[in-house]
Amino acid sequence: METDPTPKRRKGLTVALAISAVAGIGLLAGQGFSPVEASATRSPEQIYGASCKYCHGHMVAPGVRVAPDLLGRKLDPESIKLFVRNGPGGMLSFRESDISNRELDALARWISESPAPPAPPMPPAPAQQPGKSKP
Ligand code: HEC
Repeated sequence: METDPTPKRRKGLTVALAISAVAGIGLLAGQGFSPVEASATRSPEQIYGASCKYCHGHMVAPGVRVAPDLLGRKLDPESIKLFVRNGPGGMLSFRESDISNRELDALARWISESPAPPAPPMPPAPAQQPGKSKP
């Protein structure tokens, strides 16, 4: 009577699976799965983009700005910080829970040192009507 070879093959397969599972876990552990630091300070660009650019860095309509451009003017970092904390005129103020002192130091320096951004594209010129060119 012949014996069924299946059980032996099964065992081999199980061992192979076990090995690859262990290898897989080792691989994951080796890659150092550490969650991104929650308290990481944001970069000045990130803060500027999220909190300032809406008013200071772009035109809401061609030629219409909410607030003056800040970049490329070599503004004094100390006065930038005062503006941010006190929010003069139509500007809102930011508390330390919005922008930490450390972030604000870096932001003020970054704004002061950044070159002016490239000029925004000109609004389209009024279309010339064929045959109706200006004198
Ligand atoms: C809601 C719109 C708004 C936001 C958001 C805003 N500002 Fe302002 N900001 C203004 C306005 C309006 C003025 C002009 C106030 C005035 O002259 O009375 C101003 C003025 C300033 C000035 C003085 C500029 C100058 O020409 O002397 C600085 C510096 C400044 N803001 C920095 C910032 C920074 C940094 C941020 C982001 C953290 C920011 N602002 C976010 C509206 C805004």
